[in-house]
Amino acid sequence: MPRPRILVTRAIFPEVAQRLSEYFDVESNTDDAPWNREELLRRLHGKNGALTFGLERIDADLLTQCPTLMVCANMTVGYNNFDLTAMTAAGVLGTNAPDVLTETTADFGFALLMATARRVTESEHFLRAGQWKHWHFEMFSGAEVHGSTLGIIGMGRIGQAIARRAAFGFGMPVIYHNRSRLDAALEADCRARYVGKDELLKTADHVLLVVPYSAASHHTIGAPELALMKPTATLINIARGGIVDDVALAAALRANRIAAAGLDVFEGEPTVHPDLLACSNVVLTPHIASATAGTRRAMAMLAVDNLIGYLVHGKAVTPLNAAELAK
Ligand code: DGY
Repeated sequence: MPRPRILVTRAIFPEVAQRLSEYFDVESNTDDAPWNREELLRRLHGKNGALTFGLERIDADLLTQCPTLMVCANMTVGYNNFDLTAMTAAGVLGTNAPDVLTETTADFGFALLMATARRVTESEHFLRAGQWKHWHFEMFSGAEVHGSTLGIIGMGRIGQAIARRAAFGFGMPVIYHNRSRLDAALEADCRARYVGKDELLKTADHVLLVVPYSAASHHTIGAPELALMKPTATLINIARGGIVDDVALAAALRANRIAAAGLDVFEGEPTVHPDLLACSNVVLTPHIASATAGTRRAMAMLAVDNLIGYLVHGKAVTPLNAAELAK
């Protein structure tokens, strides 16, 4: 029986590549060149598995052209690059990398909240530009974090980890909105209170988004939602581009309709809408919420465990459509 053939679509840690090569024949993208669709299809042809990075669209068209493919393992928790229905129809398993990034990503959500509320990057740019000539009592006065109300939209594992930081570390009342309400024990554990989306938007001093991207969550925050928020409020997005209507947000920031925003994800990233780049009251980071060496290594290793689990032992660790495939 020949060894399964695996494609790794971007550069990865050497020890991760080494572990893969113990089990599989591996083709890697060591140059880390972002392949276009044609190149991806060409290289994926004849492979049995792929280690993917949440960027490669795995859809019916690709699956028809790659009939030997059996599994795609994202090293990300988000999997909106997978058309899971098409994957199930083609008999292909999708896996993601949950849990190992939860606390690190929650740390970053909080860092972005703090930086946004307290105008950390804006004031640093001012200082670096040599504009700091004297102290002024209102200079870069920001929004209070401790004791203010945090509204979390999307109360999965990362949302819950952020709620704990806010409630226990910063004495913040936490309200949340989610597709389904948490059970009472979990709500108590996070000290979070369930509210409707409109109430959250009207009440929160800081609105933080950690909802997964889907057609249903597209533009969860657009002009109507921004209009409900307090003019002193901040908006933090560590979820996915497309959850926020970036053009509407830039207009709201320009008009001081809300005070500030902190964004780690963007519609059409890595391109960032020029209207956002032109706003000073927004903190912008390049999709780095889970980026610590330890966490990124753990995410990659989990993806490898999924490939080995499925292709060698017949069972992935964190499958997304195993139940559907078994039907
Ligand atoms: C994830 O894991 O989904 C993060 O957004 C990193 O891409």
